[in-house]
Amino acid sequence: MSTATTRATPAPAGSVGTARTRVEGRDKVTGAARYAGEVPFADLAHGWLVLSTVARGRILSIDSGAALALPGVLTVLHHGNAPRVDVDFVGLLGTRPDPTCALFQHDRVPHMGWPVALVVAETSEQAREAAETLVVQYEKEDHDVAFSAAHPDAYAMDGVMPAVTGKGDLDAEIAASATVVDAEYTTPEEHHNPMEPHAATARWDDGRLEVVDSNQGAGWVQGELAKLFQMDPSAVRVRSEHVGGGFGSKGVRAHQVAAVMAATALQRPVRVVLTRRQMFTLIGYRSPTVQQVRLGADADGRLRALEHRSLSVTSTVHEFVEPAAGVARAMYDADAHHTANRVVRLDVPTPTWMRAPGEAPGSFALESALDELAEGCGIDPVELRLRNEPDRGPVSGLPFASHNLRACFQEGARRFGWAERDPRPGLRREGRWLLGTGTAAASFPAGAAPSTAVATAEPDGSFTVRIAAADIGTGARTALTQVAADALAVPPDRVRVRIGDSDFGPAMIAGGSMGTRSWAWAVTAAAEELRERLALGSDIPAEGITVRSDTSAAVGALARKERHAYGAQFAEVAVDVTTGEVRVRRMLGVFAAGRIVNPLTARSQLTGGMIWGISMALHEESVRDPATGGHVGADLAGYHVATHADVPLVEADWVDDPDPDDPVGIKGIGEIGIVGAAAAIANAVWHATGVRHRHLPIRPDRVL
Ligand code: MOS
Repeated sequence: MSTATTRATPAPAGSVGTARTRVEGRDKVTGAARYAGEVPFADLAHGWLVLSTVARGRILSIDSGAALALPGVLTVLHHGNAPRVDVDFVGLLGTRPDPTCALFQHDRVPHMGWPVALVVAETSEQAREAAETLVVQYEKEDHDVAFSAAHPDAYAMDGVMPAVTGKGDLDAEIAASATVVDAEYTTPEEHHNPMEPHAATARWDDGRLEVVDSNQGAGWVQGELAKLFQMDPSAVRVRSEHVGGGFGSKGVRAHQVAAVMAATALQRPVRVVLTRRQMFTLIGYRSPTVQQVRLGADADGRLRALEHRSLSVTSTVHEFVEPAAGVARAMYDADAHHTANRVVRLDVPTPTWMRAPGEAPGSFALESALDELAEGCGIDPVELRLRNEPDRGPVSGLPFASHNLRACFQEGARRFGWAERDPRPGLRREGRWLLGTGTAAASFPAGAAPSTAVATAEPDGSFTVRIAAADIGTGARTALTQVAADALAVPPDRVRVRIGDSDFGPAMIAGGSMGTRSWAWAVTAAAEELRERLALGSDIPAEGITVRSDTSAAVGALARKERHAYGAQFAEVAVDVTTGEVRVRRMLGVFAAGRIVNPLTARSQLTGGMIWGISMALHEESVRDPATGGHVGADLAGYHVATHADVPLVEADWVDDPDPDDPVGIKGIGEIGIVGAAAAIANAVWHATGVRHRHLPIRPDRVL
C-alpha cells in the first residue's frame, strides 16, 4: 500500500510518521488476544438479562420459582431483591449518568427492552433457558415512540454545548439574499453494532472489586462503578485489554452493573454478555434527527443568513442531545447565524454518542444545503465553500489554531479530477446507470483532556509505558508505542505499551476523537522526563526507574483557540434507473487532521469513517414499530451496514497540518472520516439524477 503523504513532508527522523502494523496484530489474528467475554476465570457463573416486553408501564410481579428450580440456576436478581445503587452524581464531561445503569431499582418500565431481571446460572445456556421461563407480569400503559418535527413537546437542551446560539436578523438577511435554500433533512435512528458485543466479568478479589470489561475507558468505568456502588475508587479495578469496537457505546451499561450485583450476591465471578438483539436497547444509539436549514447568500455566494435547527429524541429517564446543529458553529459565518438543538422525550431508550455525534447527521443536512445553495447560485460547490471560510470562530469569535480546509479541497479536487466536472445534473448515462459526483466539507473538534502516564526504564534496556488508554480498534496501542519511542529516542521494539487497566491512573477515554492525542501528550511528558533522568547516568535498579506524568495543567491552554480537524470529501456514484440502487464507485477524503502518527492505521481509521458514511447515506436505519414500541429487525441481518461489496475504491489522505500547540502535533482522527461523507454521496446522487434526497438512508424505494 502507498503511504505517501500529499505534501512533501520531511522524512521522519523517528517512528512517528512511519507506517507500522499493530503491535498486538499477531495476537489478534491468532486468537491469543482475549476479549472480555473470553478471559478465563475459575468458578465462573453466567448472568442472562431479561428485558421488558412492554414499552411503558409497571412490573406487577416477577415469579422466579420455575426458573430457580431449573438445573444450575443460582439466583434471580430484580427490583425486589437487588442492592441499592446511587446515580446522583456527576460523571464524564460533567454529565449525569444514564439512570438506565441504576439496574433493578424500581418497578417502572420506561421503554421496550428495559432490564427487569438477571438470571444467574452455572452456564450461559442454563441462565438463558431459565430466563425464558421467568414470568413477569406488567401493568401496561400507553406509549409514545413517534418521533416527528411536529411533536408538541420539543424543548431546547444544552448537553455538552449550549442549545442555542444566535446573532443577526435572519428574516432580514434572508429577504436581502439573492439565493435562498430552505429545506428539511432527516436522519434515522442508527445503532453502533461493534463487532464485539458488550461483555463484563465481575469478581471480588481479596476485598477488591475487579471487572474485566469491553469499554472505551477503564478508568471511566471504574469511576462510575465506584460511584454507583458507593465504593472508594481504589477498591475497584477495571481491565479492558482488547476491545472489538465501541463507536461511542462502550461506557457503563447495564451488564457491568448486573455482573457486579451478581458477583456480590454470590461471592463468585459472574459474567454477563449482551446478545446482538439486547444491544439494540441497552447500549444507546444515535437519535433520529429532523433538521431545518435555511441559507441565504449574495449573488457571489457569500452567506448572509445561516439557520440550522435540529430536533432529536431523548428518553423519559435521561436527557441526551444529538447536537446536529452544532457543526455550523465552527464551519461557516453569516451576518445572521442561528443554531438550535432541541429534543423531545419519548418512551424509548436513551440515545448516546455514536460516530461523530452531532457532526455526522449535522454535516449531512448542512453540507447538502450548501450544495443546494451552490446549485442555486450557479457556483461550483468547492468554490462556494472556499468563499465562505471564516477567519475566526463564527460563534466563539476565537482565532483558529490552524485552518487548512482550503488545502484539503485543493488537493482533493486535483486528485479527484473535479475540474473536469460538468455541474449540470442528470446528464451522464452508462447503460442503465446514471453517474454523478459530489463533494462536502468536514470538520471535527480537536481537543485534548488530562491524562496520566507512567514510563519505566527496565534493567534489561527496554521500556514499559503504562496508561489507562483503550484501543477500540483504532491502533492507539501502536501509535503510543511510536510516540513513546520517539520521546525516549529509542527504536519502538524496545518499548512495551500497556493499556486498558484503571490501575494505571486517570486518563482520557477513547472518545471525542481525543483519545490518542490526550494519551500521546501524557506519554510524551513521562517518556521525555525519563529520558532526561537517564541522561544523568546511573545504574538501573532491579525495579527499574519510573516517571509519572500528569497533563492536567498543560492541556488547558488549548481552550484559547478554535481547534478543529478539517476534510474535503468527494464521491462518485452510479444510480440504477431500473432498481433505484445507488452504488458508490469511488470516494476520496483529504484531511487536515494534525500530525499523523501511523499512516497505516490512520488511513484505516479515516477510510473506516468514510465507510460509516456510505453506510449512513445508503444503508443504516433502525425501524421502530409504533405499535410495540420496539424495533423491527433488531439484529445484524436486518440492520444493514456497508459490506465489502458496497465499498469500492475508498481513499483517504492528508495534508501537512501539525497542531502548533500539541507536543507531538496531533489533532485526532477518530471521527472526522464520517463527517460530510453522507452529504458528498447525497450530493453525487443529485448530480447523477437531478433529484435531491434529503432523507437518509437513500434507499432504492426512495430513489425510484
Ligand atoms: Mo466517540 S462517538 O466520541 O466514542
